[in-house]
Amino acid sequence: MSEVAVAAFLFVTDLDNTLVGDDYALIELNQKLSQHRQEYGTKIVYATGRSRSSYNTLKAEKQLLDPDALIASVGTEIYDDDRDDNPDPAWSEKLSEGWDRELAVATAAHYSDLVPQEDSEQRPFKVSYLVTEEAAVEVLPRLKSQLSERGLDVKLIFSGGKDLDILPRHADKGLAVQFLQQKWGIDTTRTVVCGDSGNDIALFSVGSSRGIIVGNARPELQQWYDENPADYRYLAQGHCAAGILEGLQHFGFFSS
Ligand code: GLC
Ligand code: MG
Repeated sequence: MSEVAVAAFLFVTDLDNTLVGDDYALIELNQKLSQHRQEYGTKIVYATGRSRSSYNTLKAEKQLLDPDALIASVGTEIYDDDRDDNPDPAWSEKLSEGWDRELAVATAAHYSDLVPQEDSEQRPFKVSYLVTEEAAVEVLPRLKSQLSERGLDVKLIFSGGKDLDILPRHADKGLAVQFLQQKWGIDTTRTVVCGDSGNDIALFSVGSSRGIIVGNARPELQQWYDENPADYRYLAQGHCAAGILEGLQHFGFFSS
């Protein structure tokens, strides 16, 4: 076993089409992660676009390990425990700086191309819509400048060729991971992040976290990877959990 394989690390993964999507590979990955956590104290974090209630539905359907923390709703909520009802108040407080949810909703209401997502996905620090890829190209820049004219400095995240999230300036999956790294005292070089779509780009942008882009990644993430190559980012051949296993071996977090 190489030395790096016997030390704890922080494992962060998106769920849909990253950790979840290949049930057989997921079983193998779960076994390895669970053993690593038990032996070395490796931490497992899920970073999902789903609300906690939508996450609970997925957890009931799939074999997911209990995480050490849950980052839900595209990084706007951090739960110490996925059974916890209240997200970390320090994180919520940080996100509330300069955020005006009502103004974001009222501004977006002027765009008929934006169709609100279901109620469960509308959260205190996240307003979400469905929009086609064609409309997004034209609508997003206009919406962004109208929001800033109105004094709202927000982040627009387009994912999966259909989802638009409006978030506070200081919110995204990557910044939420940084919050946990600081809380737990874990360096980016001992952190691995895994993803497949646009809302995961932020995960790959924090320090030099080791990044695994699964082989089935969406074009928006593939394109970002092509434009931002780095030796600490790995584009896997394998899809979903199989791609994660491949990447963990590539970086030496797991011995073969
Ligand atoms: C998940 C969420 C949705 C969000 C999307 C992209 O599907 O349920 O609200 O827009 O991720 O971030
Ligand atoms: Mg995904």
